[in-house]
Amino acid sequence: MKKYIVANWKCNPATLKEAENIFGLIKKEVKIPEVIICPPFTYLSSLKGLALGAQNVFFESKGAYTGEISPLMLKDLGCKYVLIGHSERRKYFNETDEIINKKIKAAIGAGLSPIFCIGETEKERKEGKAEEVIERQIKKGLEGVKAPIIIAYEPVWAIGTGNSCGKEEAEKMSLFIKKMADVPVLYGGSVNASNSKEYAKMDGLLVGGASLIPDEFITIVKNAV
Ligand code: PGA
Repeated sequence: MKKYIVANWKCNPATLKEAENIFGLIKKEVKIPEVIICPPFTYLSSLKGLALGAQNVFFESKGAYTGEISPLMLKDLGCKYVLIGHSERRKYFNETDEIINKKIKAAIGAGLSPIFCIGETEKERKEGKAEEVIERQIKKGLEGVKAPIIIAYEPVWAIGTGNSCGKEEAEKMSLFIKKMADVPVLYGGSVNASNSKEYAKMDGLLVGGASLIPDEFITIVKNAV
């Protein structure tokens, strides 16, 4: 079974030099095609030798949209993947299910593979609404989407908190997601070298903070494949 190990560098590191250094160390140790590095846009054209993904994309292909990056631009840079709907985009940049749906369609239209991020907040989980939220995010996010995508289940309360979701919970949610969409389901949220083996039954991992520490990320990849 193919596994996807995705590195989400978020808004890090601060310089191209550092990015090249981290990328180079990872590249030396992991040669498998399933490792996907998602650096900030500005480093995409300089990093070569592993599969690349962007962390966001706009839904129009060109035009008067100051500050935006189109799917065609990413494709032209050699990007294969793009993260869409990350909880930080939903929270800080007001991305709605409708916007996310447009982005997914535009990405597919340009030949990119979306890694569609979904997950419930702590409050939603405490209120017993986790499944309901996941179902809504999938239905709305994938409305009219026919092409294959990858889903990353990332409970919001597990992201960057050190409080990873237990394996039973992640596996349970993966089965729930697969009933709605027959796609690979990755787990993301505080994955590190010590807990990554727990998620062996998932189709891969989306790794944030730990993906910037080469040794840690290399161990995660080796544990997972
Ligand atoms: P984290 O981030 O591994 O730092 O929790 C995961 C993500 O946001 O994709």
